[in-house]
Amino acid sequence: MLLAPPSAIQLSGLALRAWSPADAPLLRATLAASEAHLRAWTPWVVDGRVPGLSLEQRLAAHAADFAAGAAWVYGMFDSGGTEVLGGCGLYPRVGPNAVELGYWLAVGHTGRGLATHAAAALTRLAFDAPDIDRVEIRCDRGNTASSRIPARLGYRVMDPRDATADAFGTDLSELIVWRLSRAEFAERGDV
Ligand SMILES: CC(C)(COP(=O)(O)OP(=O)(O)OC[C@H]1O[C@@H](n2cnc3c(N)ncnc32)[C@H](O)[C@@H]1OP(=O)(O)O)[C@@H](O)C(=O)NCCC(=O)NCCS
Repeated sequence: MLLAPPSAIQLSGLALRAWSPADAPLLRATLAASEAHLRAWTPWVVDGRVPGLSLEQRLAAHAADFAAGAAWVYGMFDSGGTEVLGGCGLYPRVGPNAVELGYWLAVGHTGRGLATHAAAALTRLAFDAPDIDRVEIRCDRGNTASSRIPARLGYRVMDPRDATADAFGTDLSELIVWRLSRAEFAERGDV
């Protein structure tokens, strides 16, 4: 995969930076304040995917994955870098020539377009790689706030039976799979 997004991305009012273990105290504070909000749809953001790892170990794993080109997971920080507003990332786990895009926000930072801006930036970066043919956003059927983001960016709902299974054994029938192809992205000119 030729995907090689930068480790730091400055957006309007929002900075994306590849996670480092040094971010653990800031992330811990955000997770504590947003626990119920995040547990509703993304319990793995609170607990991690691998049981028993400390937050520092989880962030070290993200940093190692970023360096190895295995996944690109970012913290979303305020412009001063003093608060974690959320997280987002690109994950090559939905079949060949494709990446999944994910995001979450702290409960106090919703409703301002931050996740939409981050998802738009990551979509553009994904298609900068010539071998990426599609980007997918996978939401639980009931997660309407999340679904509004790919809808806003021009993604289309696809038949989950045509989707590639993920590594977590997720029941695809429980998901809405949103997809943007390279051709659709090119047609739009931007997202
Ligand atoms: C999913 C989640 C990130 C959506 O948060 P969000 O605040 O709705 O998303 P955005 O930051 O893009 O903000 C969009 C909202 O801000 C509003 N907004 C204000 N200014 C805006 C701007 N400049 N640009 C775009 N939207 C703007 C939009 O109208 C929209 O509100 P609406 O959906 O009521 O119309 C959030 O609910 C969350 O973190 N949930 C828990 C984790 C989760 O579910 N992650 C996704 C898993 S698939």
